[in-house]
Amino acid sequence: MEKQHIYITRKIPNELLQPYQEQFHFSMWEKESEPVPREVLLEKVEHVAGILCLLTDQIDEEVFNKAKHLQLVANMAVGYDNIDVEAAKARQVVVTNTPDVLTETTADLTFALLMATARRIVEANEFIKKDEWKDWSPFLLAGSDIHHQTIGIVGMGRIGEAVARRAKGFGMNILYYNRSRKMEAEQELDATYVSFEKLLTEADFVVCLTPLTSDTHQIFNKQAFEKMKQSAIFINASRGMTMDEQALYEALKAGEIKAAGLDVFATEPIRASHPLLELDNVVCLPHIGSASVATRENMIKLCLENLSSYFKGHGAKTPVE
Ligand code: GLV
Repeated sequence: MEKQHIYITRKIPNELLQPYQEQFHFSMWEKESEPVPREVLLEKVEHVAGILCLLTDQIDEEVFNKAKHLQLVANMAVGYDNIDVEAAKARQVVVTNTPDVLTETTADLTFALLMATARRIVEANEFIKKDEWKDWSPFLLAGSDIHHQTIGIVGMGRIGEAVARRAKGFGMNILYYNRSRKMEAEQELDATYVSFEKLLTEADFVVCLTPLTSDTHQIFNKQAFEKMKQSAIFINASRGMTMDEQALYEALKAGEIKAAGLDVFATEPIRASHPLLELDNVVCLPHIGSASVATRENMIKLCLENLSSYFKGHGAKTPVE
């Protein structure tokens, strides 16, 4: 059988590719910490049957028009807003993502970010490093409680449910808003389905885990932040474009909400000069939701399994939609 050509848009460990060397001819962008330049991507995809790409690569009409032999795009992420799925469909190109393998790891990070923001962990660490700890005092770096508070999860998919399980362990009251109701989650986790408005007004922690779509683009806008409690903490671990960053900045600065923990931004990477970094009540992370070594390896493996299974004629393992 002729080997299929696969282009990988970032350097990934050779050991992970080893089991597939007989089936595929791989070529790869050889840098680990830098995305493939657009013109290189456009040139490289011309003769390939498959692409293994990252969320930093825009796989759009232009790419599909160049990649005349393309059959499958394996995205190393659960979110796939970087791929024009309609354009793929029109050309019968299959798109796969990496659900399940990252659920628990991403839920861990989301909850860690929530806790770090509520209890001012980063600020407290900086405080000692700056040698400002002169004495103990009753309200030194006092933050917000997490246990027995109300969490409002926007986007009750797999990761939302995994965050809800963690919240249940903390005795939290769980509200959620989702496109559809999740009856099992309601039973298992005592989660209550509410409208977006009600969630915003009642939650102590508003946690965004919804995929980015045309419906969720900037759902967290000025009006949404205005509806939140003044004591509310906003956490975003989905995609930056679900929020209006300027409106968030203004709400935080004006004390309309208390704090924010962000793993994602409208345009990534952000620079140190980003206005949100000026604020002490914001914890920012460089989009590391699924970043444990084991999970990142499992995401790469799932991409490769999708390619392998598809080109052996057994169908993709985790196609989107
Ligand atoms: C990361 O953000 C992902 O979608 O997997």
